[in-house]
Amino acid sequence: MNILFASSEVAPFIKTGGLADVAGSLPQALVKEGHQVTVILPLYQGISQFWRDQMTFLKHFNVSLSWRQAYCGLFQLVREGVTYWFVDNEYYFKRAQVYGHFDDCERFAFFSRAVLAAPAQMDWAPDIIHCNDWQTALIPVYLLEERYRVPQLAGAHAVFTIHNIEYQGRYGEQVLQDVIGLDSSYFNEGMLAYFGDVNLMKGAILASSQVTTVSPTYAQELHTPFYAHGMDGVICQQDGKFCGILNGIDMDLYDPAACADLPEHYSAKDLTGKAACKAALQRSMGLQEDPYVPLIGCVSRLVGHKGFSLVTDALHDIMGLDVQMVVLGTGEWQYEEAFRSAQGQYPGRFAAHLAYSPALSNLVYAGSDLFLMPSVSEPCGLSQLIAMRFGSVPVVRETGGLKDTVPPYNKYTGEGRGFTFTNINAGDMVWVLREAAALYRSNKPAWRSLQKAGMTADFSWGPSAKQYLEVYQKAMG
Ligand code: GLC
Repeated sequence: MNILFASSEVAPFIKTGGLADVAGSLPQALVKEGHQVTVILPLYQGISQFWRDQMTFLKHFNVSLSWRQAYCGLFQLVREGVTYWFVDNEYYFKRAQVYGHFDDCERFAFFSRAVLAAPAQMDWAPDIIHCNDWQTALIPVYLLEERYRVPQLAGAHAVFTIHNIEYQGRYGEQVLQDVIGLDSSYFNEGMLAYFGDVNLMKGAILASSQVTTVSPTYAQELHTPFYAHGMDGVICQQDGKFCGILNGIDMDLYDPAACADLPEHYSAKDLTGKAACKAALQRSMGLQEDPYVPLIGCVSRLVGHKGFSLVTDALHDIMGLDVQMVVLGTGEWQYEEAFRSAQGQYPGRFAAHLAYSPALSNLVYAGSDLFLMPSVSEPCGLSQLIAMRFGSVPVVRETGGLKDTVPPYNKYTGEGRGFTFTNINAGDMVWVLREAAALYRSNKPAWRSLQKAGMTADFSWGPSAKQYLEVYQKAMG
């Protein structure tokens, strides 16, 4: 099968969130299954010279977008069997930030048009165009247009994956003709129209042959108003072509026996080195170096739907459990403020590093004993998978992918991989944190087997890649 995989971010080239990790690892798994995969992304300013030096220039051409004729350069890089195409247009992509510009609709409409123009330019015929999130949501819609169905795309089918339904690409009606370049026939309830606006994600859900999201539980949750942010009606209506497939992680990239960011290595068979990682984390974050205290780690964007109000509401209760806590990430000011002040209140016991740092993240995964994710919603979540791989026991709310990947600890049978709570309630969260800290302190053998259950679980892409291939088959009829 020929698969064109379109994403607005792809690790290791450019990353703001979990989408980049998926786009950086699922294609490799599909290649291992014997398929030909080309990943296409914008050539942002943020893509480093290191990668640019490895690219070759393929060609340039013009892409039409409404009344505009926009330059489109195409660069190529081949890595671990996957071909990457980078779409160059400095007007749209030579900017300090990846997202958040006044003309994001136009930038990603251009990118979507470029994705459909590239196969003809390279004379390559994809069977599947796999699109991800609102930035690539116009691709399935454009594919309905006769004028874009060039011979190379005659047999192409669109698959759309929702990584987070909170960001839908919702714009005023006027973008339809002037920016997107589609006529008013697309502005109806059965396509892009949504309460008087244009909604790109809605269009993708309706226009794609198959739609997926990143965990089975999130797929269920998206049928309800609380989780679907207005899309529940559309999802329910399109249920026959919709399913949830769990994300995997790159098990080689996240391996405590090999990770270059750790002072000592360890594995499920021999956990000795983890103590050195804990000490290094405590030292580097200014915490008291204490091997016995339960250390709670948190690596996340500090935004509402990650459940941080539970943490800030119950911070004193958490610290009252006689634990240490490390928070790493950036986000909304009220959480950054709360964590900054907690650091002053609990010197040597609470540390906040309000920045994005992949190397330090790995040290938090390795050096912490517990990993907290109290998410209000969590499409899949990759951090809990990485934490488990590094022997840090997750404490999570039972939602989305957290529910699917962290079966709760059963103190009678010893089964499970972590600690869970059901309601969005700070008291419930503190309750399970107390249980977890108590087990850590009082029952080392039980703790070890919990750690090992997480470390030896298979979070690789293998099974999920096969499920994607089934979805592709369905899309092709
Ligand atoms: C988004 C979701 C996260 C998911 C990731 C990759 O970032 O918030 O839960 O794991 O996409 O699919």
